Amino acid sequence: KWTNFSIIEESIAQIREQVGERNVLCALSGGVDSTVAAVLTHEAVGDQLTCVFVDTGLLREGEADQVVTLFSSQFHIKLVVVEAAERFLSALAGVLDPEIKRKIIGNLFIRTFEEAALGIDAGGFLVQGTLYPDVIESGSGSAALIKSHHNVGGLPEDMSFALVEPLRFLFKDEVRAVGVELGIPEEVVWRQPFPGPGLAVRVVGEVTQESVGRVREADRIVREEILRAGLGRSMWQYFAVLAPSLRSVGVSGDERTYDAPIIVRAVDSDDAMTADWARIPYEVLDVIAHRIVGEVNGVNRVVYDITSKPPGTIEWE
Ligand code: XMP
Repeated sequence: KWTNFSIIEESIAQIREQVGERNVLCALSGGVDSTVAAVLTHEAVGDQLTCVFVDTGLLREGEADQVVTLFSSQFHIKLVVVEAAERFLSALAGVLDPEIKRKIIGNLFIRTFEEAALGIDAGGFLVQGTLYPDVIESGSGSAALIKSHHNVGGLPEDMSFALVEPLRFLFKDEVRAVGVELGIPEEVVWRQPFPGPGLAVRVVGEVTQESVGRVREADRIVREEILRAGLGRSMWQYFAVLAPSLRSVGVSGDERTYDAPIIVRAVDSDDAMTADWARIPYEVLDVIAHRIVGEVNGVNRVVYDITSKPPGTIEWE
């Protein structure tokens, strides 16, 4: 029987055979796939693996710390953390167009990763959390192409790594089961999908320290209240979007306000190709709205997005 245990044993044997005594590099995103792929590879080759985590400053609250704690403290995996928040912010200054934001972030991510990789004896191998559906979709068994449509950009061809893809025969639910078996915490294994360009595509407008900070706080509140209500696993995604240049009049105490709205977005979906807005109970929406206007500076209104996909997309950018 093809059990999770045998999947793990089999992968470990395959990774060992592929890389032998050489070193392996892995770029972590904090997501389920790259985390499980990295931990599996570590089980196989131990200290031959070095992970690189680029903190773009566009992650959700607590995410960077979670990666460091998990990889360094729990699994004792060699980890290089690159603090790149300022670099990303200055590259994004003045940029409004979503596709240009994506391009800038993708390119800068690669450059930053490359620079970090130069300082590491990488041994020519790169771990990728490619899943079976990605393999089918890209129609390749190729070792050269990286799923740029899912991750923050691809890697430059002249880096010419051989790919280690321990998840290439697995579906998402199997990856989760393997993750649990490997001792990866539930909150990581069940993490909701998060776009590679991060919070930058959840600020409809200019990404600044202030706007990212605000959307990050609102996102934390949405996540806290959804989890508190026990709705976490029932939805595909739930998050906040900030529209910093759209302002509306409000009132706070005796003061008139003229501030930005937060859009709450939560969807049910099987594969992100189509989605329906989630019927979150009014009571939960009410708490979320009160907390956001009360706790997030510069926000005086909360709206709930009731658009399905199509015609809407899940993200706003
Ligand atoms: P949309 O907004 O197109 O999103 O309905 C579909 C799914 O993809 C995620 N998403 C991205 N993931 N890089 C990613 O890695 C991206 O640029 C990106 N854009 C959207 C989105 O969160 C949803 O799960």
